[in-house]
Amino acid sequence: MKTEDHSNVIVYFGNEYVPLREARVSILTHALHYGTGVFDGIRGYWDERQEQLFLVRPMEHFRRWKANSGILRIGIAPDASTLCGITVELVRRNHFHSHIYVRPVAYKSAERIGVVPDELDAFSVIAVPFGDYLDSRHGLHAGVVSWRRIEDNAIPGRAKICGSYVNSALASDEARRNGFDEAIFLTEEGHVAEGATCNIFLVRGGKLITPSPAENILEGITRNCVIELAHTELHLDVIERPVDRSELYLADEIFFTGTAVEIAPVTRVDHRAVGSGAIGPVSAELRFLYLEATRGHLPHYRHWLLPTFDLKPPEAAEPEPELAAVGDGDLWGV
Ligand SMILES: Cc1ncc(COP(=O)(O)O)c(C=O)c1O
Repeated sequence: MKTEDHSNVIVYFGNEYVPLREARVSILTHALHYGTGVFDGIRGYWDERQEQLFLVRPMEHFRRWKANSGILRIGIAPDASTLCGITVELVRRNHFHSHIYVRPVAYKSAERIGVVPDELDAFSVIAVPFGDYLDSRHGLHAGVVSWRRIEDNAIPGRAKICGSYVNSALASDEARRNGFDEAIFLTEEGHVAEGATCNIFLVRGGKLITPSPAENILEGITRNCVIELAHTELHLDVIERPVDRSELYLADEIFFTGTAVEIAPVTRVDHRAVGSGAIGPVSAELRFLYLEATRGHLPHYRHWLLPTFDLKPPEAAEPEPELAAVGDGDLWGV
């Protein structure tokens, strides 16, 4: 993965806007040693035609981040709408005219040895230009890894706790070294949980299936978007239930969902073709709808988005486009 120089990007740190190169924490910071931080990830999509950068469901992300930080007893003073305002300000100060990724992180900030956390908390919001996380245009090859998904009673996986991402890092490393694009975690009981950085859906016999939140998954916001799109647009209900590993090999379609991966079809799993081995119609349609919705092209889902620049006056705005045919190659890899 290429490392880009973001040192001049303006970030929110210590209650002020500063260049990233000045946002520094001590080597003794509690969160660095013990993983006692909680983060989130939000996408912002630049739409050239509307000259607008849309943040995708920022209120939901900030609410989740604040609630999950409470599991570690980390307090984040601003409410979700103030945090949205901070993010809009970051977009404007950085003059972003490209897709971005927003990374809020809250952490135990005491500078001392000793694992017992105290009440010293800090947070930061970082936004950087960001393109594709995985190139899923032609479908991914996913592999079940030997690492098991962390148990809620060990480290709650639903909380996006910094330390718990060692689990995802080990899984991603193993998957990549074994030639896979993304890892699939099983739970200690042997059920399918999720990817290393994403939730998972299967299509079997015309039904959309996904592991329930009780399977140690992160309760993904993209997962919720897909459940809504599937129900509203495809009239498909989603069944949340335990999924066996062998169901991966019998599925007609599999896809991952996540802020970074978006909707990523899986066409091979553990060296076996998924269905026909090509991207299936449900995955293609949901991906198309999600990308259209998150770029502000579908009025019905506009409430998911927060525009960051002043809106064009209505007379200058172009008409909403007709929904292009599903499978229109233009949207792949935007
Ligand atoms: C382990 C894990 N599961 C699922 C997801 C997907 O969650 P969301 O759709 O809210 O980005 C992520 C990404 O944040 C993740 O890290």
